[in-house]
Amino acid sequence: MTDLNAFISGLPKAELHMHIEGSLEPEMMFALAERNGVAIPFASVEEVRGAYQFSRLQDFLDIYYAGADVLRTEADFRDLAAAYFDRAAADSVVHAEIFFDPQTHTARGIGFGTVVAGLLAGMEDARARHGITARLILCFLRHLSEAEAFATLAEAEPWLDRIEAVGLDSSELGHPPEKFARVFAAAAAKGLKRVAHAGEEGPADYVWQALDVLEVDRLDHGNRSLEDPALVERLAREQMTLTVCPLSNLKLCVVPSMDDHPIDHMLAEGLRVTINSDDPAYFGGYVNANYRAAAEGRRLGAEQLATLARNSFLGSFLSEEEKRAHIARVDAYVAGFR
Ligand code: HPA
Ligand code: ZN
Repeated sequence: MTDLNAFISGLPKAELHMHIEGSLEPEMMFALAERNGVAIPFASVEEVRGAYQFSRLQDFLDIYYAGADVLRTEADFRDLAAAYFDRAAADSVVHAEIFFDPQTHTARGIGFGTVVAGLLAGMEDARARHGITARLILCFLRHLSEAEAFATLAEAEPWLDRIEAVGLDSSELGHPPEKFARVFAAAAAKGLKRVAHAGEEGPADYVWQALDVLEVDRLDHGNRSLEDPALVERLAREQMTLTVCPLSNLKLCVVPSMDDHPIDHMLAEGLRVTINSDDPAYFGGYVNANYRAAAEGRRLGAEQLATLARNSFLGSFLSEEEKRAHIARVDAYVAGFR
């Protein structure tokens, strides 16, 4: 292992952009299919992995929603989350704010409470076994209607004290943030924080909408903001956190190669960028693999990597006191590595 890989391995970090359904590894897909008596259209784990070739976001989403069909019971969601946290702990993740897509499950007749109770059990297990803290972010599927998002928010009502924020994911093009203006306002009125995917495939205008219409506390992806200098200036001035996902960007052809990834430009522009895994089972790696790929592709040094880790805490929904404590740990780690 090179020094920089070793540095990344032990660097304390938070993960702020990962979809728990996107951590469903093919091995678990098969195990859950068998446990639940669900048929899947693949003969082997290798065949599943071989199908993970995408040229755009929608190619991935089709296979990701199909894979989620094996998730049926509270134990399935608990096991899924526990497996993610085991991988996260191995990558020195000490705090994670994870997305879940309730509509993918409630549309199949799985109860909202089944999903959330299972995920919360996995989070408790992670705290007990690894000391990892975690928060839940409920994502609305943007290809569905505003009315369906409102219905989901109503189903979340009994669980709101255990849900930190709402988010917006799925097919971006043709589904601008403003479609969910009223749902996000209702979520804000209930005390929920707001995040949204914007500027992954969609234009910079969608990022403006996420800021001005949805009033997000954090922005997911945001790559195409770079096409608009006034937007970059604003994001930097407001120190808006961007949750960038390098291996996802590569797999979904948001960038042609890792050598062309804009992560270092984003840092140079003064943007508060973070590195995350998005859907690690589908995109070829967990968070440290994303740090390594970006570091190798763009020749990032230890100081830039430490900034990315500090940003992950600054951009989290932890208290100011907790952020300070985590950042002090990053500083101590960096000092000890020299
Ligand atoms: N973009 C949009 N929706 C998603 C993604 C993503 O990268 N991953 C899971 N749902
Ligand atoms: Zn995402």
